[in-house]
Amino acid sequence: MFVWWQLIQLICFDDGTTMADIHYTDPNGPMYYNGVYHLFYQYNPHSALFGYGMLWARSASYDLINWFSLDHALVPSEPFDALGSKPGNPENRSDPLLIEWSKYSRNPLMTPPNGVDGDNFRDPTTAWQGPDGTWKVVIGSYSNKRGTDILYRSEDFVNWTMHPETLYLALETDMWECLDFFPVSINSTNGVDTSVTNPSVRHVMKEKFLPDVDFKGTNSDLRIDYGKFYPSNTFFDGKKNRRVLWAWVNESDSSEDDIQKGWSGLQVYIYGKHLESGSVFEVSGITASQVDTEIIFELPELEEAEFMDTSLVDPQLICDRQDSSVTGKYGPFGLLALATICAVSRKGWSSLRNNLDKTTYGAFVDIDPHQEMVSLRTLIDHLIIGSFGGKGRTCITARVYPKLAINNEAHLFAFNNGTLSVTI
Ligand SMILES: *[C@@H]1O[C@H](CO)[C@@H](O)[C@H](O)[C@H]1NC(C)=O
Ligand SMILES: *[C@@H]1O[C@H](CO)[C@@H](O)[C@H](O)[C@H]1NC(C)=O
Ligand SMILES: *[C@@H]1O[C@H](CO)[C@@H](O)[C@H](O)[C@H]1NC(C)=O
Ligand SMILES: *[C@@H]1O[C@H](CO)[C@@H](O)[C@H](O)[C@H]1NC(C)=O
Ligand SMILES: *[C@@H]1O[C@H](CO)[C@@H](O)[C@H](O)[C@H]1NC(C)=O
Repeated sequence: MFVWWQLIQLICFDDGTTMADIHYTDPNGPMYYNGVYHLFYQYNPHSALFGYGMLWARSASYDLINWFSLDHALVPSEPFDALGSKPGNPENRSDPLLIEWSKYSRNPLMTPPNGVDGDNFRDPTTAWQGPDGTWKVVIGSYSNKRGTDILYRSEDFVNWTMHPETLYLALETDMWECLDFFPVSINSTNGVDTSVTNPSVRHVMKEKFLPDVDFKGTNSDLRIDYGKFYPSNTFFDGKKNRRVLWAWVNESDSSEDDIQKGWSGLQVYIYGKHLESGSVFEVSGITASQVDTEIIFELPELEEAEFMDTSLVDPQLICDRQDSSVTGKYGPFGLLALATICAVSRKGWSSLRNNLDKTTYGAFVDIDPHQEMVSLRTLIDHLIIGSFGGKGRTCITARVYPKLAINNEAHLFAFNNGTLSVTI
């Protein structure tokens, strides 16, 4: 389990010299240990923007939904991390919260090879142990105008040797950020730990794109998330036997706004209610600014729904052109989140604030027509909405900037603007 952290100890060359990338808060070091989920992230205590003095801040959770902050894990103090590199190891492994961290004195253990700029040597994958017992790790890079990876190998996790070959090299890409390499099971829905290698797994390398399925390069193709979803990272969650993919929800407003609000970047569950055509009802008795809801819409007359050739239409475009007031047979129906009472009757329901990226997101979700239902899990947390359709087959993450629907002023509604009724 600590493989990951020892790795961070080795790779700390995010030296803060790139001032152009201002909102740099990739989720790093996500892991599950002794009943606790940990998230580490780069944090600038002096500014809402990326800059010198970045440190490793962190939060912890018992369920991945409710989080609490812990003291910073690692703060620059040594020559080797003066520019913001943050190496470290947990002091007390019996402590599930891993409060205390120390730095390894022989840092840095890896330096950029010749021809690779320090800025272009970062974002390691989780290390894995090969069948030969040695450890391997891949680091994102850029050299000779190509995005690439650098593969390292070690017997003891301290002395690392660079492998002369790369796993993959791509023309016309930028620096490979947040590279990821991990196994997925081909005959089970369980996640697998990073070092598993056997005939029942296939490896995924996030930067290498060889689709197993038909891929058209259009908006109807399968994506991890159809909304706001930036540098992702994965970890194996041994508690639930799954691989959790985690991303950074960057901002949609301007740097000036970030400076004013003082921060930027966010990390990321009624029964039997009949919703007649044209109805809307408030989900009350909750704190609508922070909600975890799973809603199942029953569609008993599914065969009545309009036919649409999903290979010919772009779901995002449809959702953008036809807002939720345009009536179909089944739907539009759904949740109206972070709404104010007066805003319910407004046509179009994006934020009242100006100067924001107000992209409308849309995606298809595969459902079993025999089950005649579609589920939608929605997590609302003041400024962010995560939606998981069909048990996570389709995900849309949205960054929101409510002007009025703040704290107690926020409301949650379920609505149905289709001609057929649905039951939730
Ligand atoms: C390590 O953590 C455990 C569990 O929190 C605690 O009981 C123990 O006292 C800690 N050991 C030290 C040396 O701090
Ligand atoms: C590091 O590992 C390499 C390759 O296994 C080996 O040749 C070298 O002697 C090792 N260096 C140290 C300091 O252990
Ligand atoms: C998956 O395949 C592997 C190797 O072919 C086999 O050992 C394993 O039992 C299979 N697992 C399931 C859940 O079918
Ligand atoms: C935010 O992320 C999007 C991708 O979702 C990217 O195109 C955009 O440049 C990012 N904006 C900032 C300010 O980092
Ligand atoms: C439902 O349709 C009505 C009438 O077109 C519209 O005023 C209302 O805003 C729509 N509801 C939602 C949630 O979009």
